[in-house]
Amino acid sequence: MSAPTIHEAAAAVADPSAYADEDRLHAALARLRASSPVARVETPGYNPFWAITRHEDIMAVERANDVFTNSPRPVLMTAQQEELQAAVQIRTLIHMDDPEHKKMRAVALNWFRPKTLKTMHSRIDDLARIYVDKLASAGGECDFVQEVAVNFPLYVIMSLLGVPEADFPRMLQLTQELVGFEDSEYARSADPDDQLSALLEMFEYFTKLAAQRRERPTDDMASTIANAVVDGEPLSDIDVVSYYALIATAGHDTTTSSISGGMRALVEHPGQRRRLTDDLDLLPAAAEEMIRWVTPVKAFMRTATADTQVGGVPIAAGDSLLLSYVSGNRDEDAFDEPFRFDVGREMNRHVAFGFGVHFCLGAPLARMEICSFYNELLPRLESVSLAGEPELSATTFVGGLKHLPIRYAMR
Ligand code: HEM
Repeated sequence: MSAPTIHEAAAAVADPSAYADEDRLHAALARLRASSPVARVETPGYNPFWAITRHEDIMAVERANDVFTNSPRPVLMTAQQEELQAAVQIRTLIHMDDPEHKKMRAVALNWFRPKTLKTMHSRIDDLARIYVDKLASAGGECDFVQEVAVNFPLYVIMSLLGVPEADFPRMLQLTQELVGFEDSEYARSADPDDQLSALLEMFEYFTKLAAQRRERPTDDMASTIANAVVDGEPLSDIDVVSYYALIATAGHDTTTSSISGGMRALVEHPGQRRRLTDDLDLLPAAAEEMIRWVTPVKAFMRTATADTQVGGVPIAAGDSLLLSYVSGNRDEDAFDEPFRFDVGREMNRHVAFGFGVHFCLGAPLARMEICSFYNELLPRLESVSLAGEPELSATTFVGGLKHLPIRYAMR
């Protein structure tokens, strides 16, 4: 494959299909990091933006959250989708800036503190065992994504939120339709109106849940959010359902992608799998490396509130910037041999969880889930190999493997 031109590389950043082809994507991002790390992207169907591809510049933008805000354009969408979404007035943490963001983040913060998570550890371990048992009983061949990796994080986050188990399949479908809106296998249809209808359906479901939890609070996260008071005022309905929608979507596909991409990496690097199986104390470092390797959240966006510069390139007030986490995590200046999968990697300062005031709220939970799962699986996994072609989702936002056919033997 010949190296892409700068123009082709910049266009790939906004092209969902590039993310389904890792070689093409990484060739494009490497080209940008080397020759145009702050690149203007003007591609049909999208409002223009700057693609920020170096680790150092991503961190600098995230750190300066007074100059670079999340509103009004936190996620890359087509111009048409941006217009439609503006009409819904969705207001989650990722759409907000301080001081409002800080107050709203505090509403659910306690649920994600290590002390609270500790109380859930044994429950998460139990769930990991259930899903590893399912793998054992699947008969030595399966699609690891669809049969295992999709369900375990779904179960954890929906239980924490307080969604009744009978509704998990519906939530799975809705979260996939929403997060995977750019992939034809997940999207409801190519019509943006249909994508919007998935969002409205989720809002309708969560509006009922919020009303129930206000009337009769329980000990779940949905009750904490529904009954929260900020600045002496109860949260509005739109704030509550937006919060639920963020937790449901952010807490699920991201962890699923890390677990399934981690599995693929272990299959393709058998020496690393043996090393980790022989020394499970490496699990925290290995989980971090899986998250860097996969980078399930490809990018978030910021908007400049004043004339400024990034990496020496002038940025005008009102310009949008796309922080390419997937590029930052393969930056040769930030990582020793970034294209090497190393379960014992030290100084792994990856940006897969972002950085600064919006740093992923669920990071400690995601880490715990990944460690619990592999702690249960690896001692029982005798052998594993690919049984077909892995398939990645086409997305510029959140995603990873859709299918990972494996053949395996378990103890
Ligand atoms: C924010 C990644 C798992 C909840 C974010 C951000 C990233 C991210 C990149 C934006 C950070 C920024 O703008 O600087 C990931 C990855 C995960 C993961 C890679 C799994 C490996 C989870 C889980 C939850 C969660 C399990 C649980 C609910 C959130 C929330 C935010 C967020 C609520 C918004 C925080 C804010 O704006 O203040 N995540 N996430 N995430 N994540 Fe995660």
